Amino acid sequence: MNTPKIRVGVIGAGNVGLALVDLVNDESRSIALVDAATATLEVVQVAVRDTKKPRPGLDPALLTTDALALANREDLDILVELAGGIEPARTYIEAALRRGVSVVSANKALIAECGTELSQLAHENGADLFYEAAVGGGIPILRALRTSLAGERIERVLGIVNGTTNFILSKMTSEGSSYADALHEAQSLGYAEADPSADVQAFDAAAKVQILSSLAFGTELRGEEIAREGITGVRSVDVEFAQRAGYVIKLLGIAERVGEHGISRRAHPAMIPREHPLASVHGAMNAVFVEGAKSGPLMWLGQGAGGVPTATAVLGDVLHAARNRVSGRHDVPFSVDDRLHSIEVGEIASVFYISLDVMDEPGVLASVANIFGRHGVSIQSMEQSGFGDEARLSFVTHTALTKAVHATIDDLAKLESVDSIGACIRVVDGGVA
Ligand SMILES: NC(=O)c1ccc[n+]([C@@H]2O[C@H](COP(=O)([O-])OP(=O)(O)OC[C@H]3O[C@@H](n4cnc5c(N)ncnc54)[C@H](OP(=O)(O)O)[C@@H]3O)[C@@H](O)[C@H]2O)c1
Repeated sequence: MNTPKIRVGVIGAGNVGLALVDLVNDESRSIALVDAATATLEVVQVAVRDTKKPRPGLDPALLTTDALALANREDLDILVELAGGIEPARTYIEAALRRGVSVVSANKALIAECGTELSQLAHENGADLFYEAAVGGGIPILRALRTSLAGERIERVLGIVNGTTNFILSKMTSEGSSYADALHEAQSLGYAEADPSADVQAFDAAAKVQILSSLAFGTELRGEEIAREGITGVRSVDVEFAQRAGYVIKLLGIAERVGEHGISRRAHPAMIPREHPLASVHGAMNAVFVEGAKSGPLMWLGQGAGGVPTATAVLGDVLHAARNRVSGRHDVPFSVDDRLHSIEVGEIASVFYISLDVMDEPGVLASVANIFGRHGVSIQSMEQSGFGDEARLSFVTHTALTKAVHATIDDLAKLESVDSIGACIRVVDGGVA
């Protein structure tokens, strides 16, 4: 029997695109690839911006600068979008899907912005839209949620889904580096962009929370605001406090059920107990921790970035789309659960660590405690440290509503004896109420 041929077009031959073409053309894996795809994959064209750039291992005859023409090619079966950004990537993807061509993308920003709409367009045209590499790079978490856990009621998803910020926070924890030094090192090692804001301000993590939440709970992917706080305000003194108290600070992406139909989605730094499985995820590694009602806790760990690991997840999607195409079917997208509603972050209760730079004079503690009391935020423990200009008060609260804590912080900032609010970081799974 003749093996069918599946024609693949790739937009982007950067870190991931080049690695993908290498994986598809890897002779040593050809039998396994044919088995998985039930077809032979052929990369028919690769779109880039600049055809003159050196691209080791890539046949220059495959290159084009006309990505739209590639998306519209008559003979295409699968379009792989590895260019990034919202436009023109969205236009290329829509063009392909309208023609019934399946699409694989690693573009978290785009999927978080309009994934539900694009999935619907794919379905209407009998095509697939897969985006495993958009969350956790090489970690196959989306397919696990979509298939193995499809029947499970997921209660909560916690993720370390941004390698840059995990590298920075790990350096601050293990080597006592300042935020600025750790960021600089991340940039010089290629883990952080020259403009690191998408990572350190948690935009990237927030997009991934949206995608995880859509698969875990059935929330819509349409670019809603996710509550977001970055790591730029995390100081060495906070990292040291966390260590003394038995915690580590991580940037967590969180999606969780609140009551029957409430969902809270957010990305922010959090203190987690040293014994928590996520606490041992160091450097640029990523991990996703899922709590299922019946399965209990589950965790996936791996390389959340890097051309080759990310390309393995893209290849998995390409093989799945190819197999579907050969058998004349496509995956039906999950329904959006209309009963779900977003819970405002202010309504979420948590234990908080709050640190204040204060004047070194009598009576400060009493006035500070008074403000906590006025907002009904009760204090679990307090630490007084430093002298003179370095004087600091650090508190761990009992469980309190975020809006009460924010109101407390606003009033504390108005006190003359408080020089500045140093930190306000949630404690997740601290086991204290
Ligand atoms: N790198 C990772 O570790 C990683 C991990 C997970 C997900 N992703 C996602 O994977 C995607 C690709 O990332 P990457 O790191 O491979 O990016 P990259 O190295 O910057 O490569 C982007 C590629 O897209 C091409 N390109 C950009 N705009 C184009 C356009 N309008 N028409 C044709 N080609 C265009 C570029 O062409 P030129 O080479 O000519 O400039 C380049 O080859 C992004 O969505 C990213 O978020 C990346």
